[in-house]
Amino acid sequence: MTEIRLFKNINVVLGVSGGIAAYKVVDLTSRLVKAGAIVDVIMTEAATKFVGPITFQALTHRPVVTEMFSLLQETEIGHVSLGKQADIMIVAPATANTLAKLAHGLSDNMLTTTALACRGPILLAPAMETGMWKNPATQANIALLQERGMHIIGPEEGRLASGADGLGRMAESDEIFEACRWLLGRNGTLAGCQVVVTAGGTREPFDPVRFIGNRSSGKMGFALATVARDRGGDVTLIHAPTALSPAYGVQSIPVETALRMHDAVMDKISTSDVLLMAAAVADYRPALLAEQKIKKNEGSRFVELVRNPDILQEVANRRETDNRPRLVVGFAAETEDLLENARKKLARKRLDLMVANDVSATDSGFAVDTNKVTLLDTKGEATPLPLLSKNEVAERIIDVVVAILKKKDKMGK
Ligand code: CTP
Repeated sequence: MTEIRLFKNINVVLGVSGGIAAYKVVDLTSRLVKAGAIVDVIMTEAATKFVGPITFQALTHRPVVTEMFSLLQETEIGHVSLGKQADIMIVAPATANTLAKLAHGLSDNMLTTTALACRGPILLAPAMETGMWKNPATQANIALLQERGMHIIGPEEGRLASGADGLGRMAESDEIFEACRWLLGRNGTLAGCQVVVTAGGTREPFDPVRFIGNRSSGKMGFALATVARDRGGDVTLIHAPTALSPAYGVQSIPVETALRMHDAVMDKISTSDVLLMAAAVADYRPALLAEQKIKKNEGSRFVELVRNPDILQEVANRRETDNRPRLVVGFAAETEDLLENARKKLARKRLDLMVANDVSATDSGFAVDTNKVTLLDTKGEATPLPLLSKNEVAERIIDVVVAILKKKDKMGK
């Protein structure tokens, strides 16, 4: 998914209050604008001491609302209408003073007035010295704000303006951007839906330092989790070791082996609506796990293997019970007879949708950022997708998932 589509036509009001972290908000503004958002920046007077309004104006191509000339601008913009039209309001950095004002409904500047008038979700990114953050007054204000439905991101541990290390550093702009994305998706087409995604290649150890693994990078599963999150789903990502980080708002359950993945999936599926099984699960594991590293002078030896459970098959066998997900998607990675093999698996594993991909192609499958897949439905119909980024493939798969769920809803399934 290109970032430009993410926030297209989304009205973001970005309130900047007076702290040194205001400089980091310049980067956040740039990301939001690049993602297609219409960003209106409101600065408190104190904020203008840290960063000039012209910086934000140049990035957003819109007038920046400041205390100094708010009256002049009010006729043009209108603080109430800004608040009303905001799809989301972000306050970053949110100082202890601004948090206190927000908690108590004060409206003595444009930022706090707009927050009071705001109908969309409000995301607060506090930044202050550790003592101020830990002060019971600030903590009580935070609790009050959360209770009223405002979302708090951070603060984090790190170097503070005073030069000391401690809790109070504003969340990084990437994190705030992701939290914003998560919040905006909350009412999406998967709102209220419990989605379980598996990703990555399991590792089957045979001594403390070695394992049998596969080439899966986890990219497809992570992309699916992110898109399902963007559509409002409550997503759990059960993943084998990868170099990737789960998206903000996604619950991550790291596992190593197929057996652990099996247990985690079984634990989750009785309360889930959708299962997207993108992981490359090892079909076999070493029968024995040596306690100590196997030494080379022990000579070469074959590792005896035993079967792992087939997770999807086990889920399929639960079909008649109530606690099977409403929709199950499988992934078939093949190097020959792609559609024939994928169709057999779709039927055998009683799937609602099979995503088939030819992993022998160099631009598709393992470790690359693109994928060329064919979607197979229960009627045996095949929909080949063009070569797309894995994010775009994830978008298309989730589109189909949403359509199938709607159909099932209509049929009362
Ligand atoms: N799968 C699973 N548990 C396993 C193996 C696979 O749940 N032990 C799931 C995969 O996550 C995938 C689907 O089954 O969604 C198809 O996996 P694949 O490896 O292509 O198929 P297999 O059934 O293992 O068949 P084969 O290895 O013979 O191709």
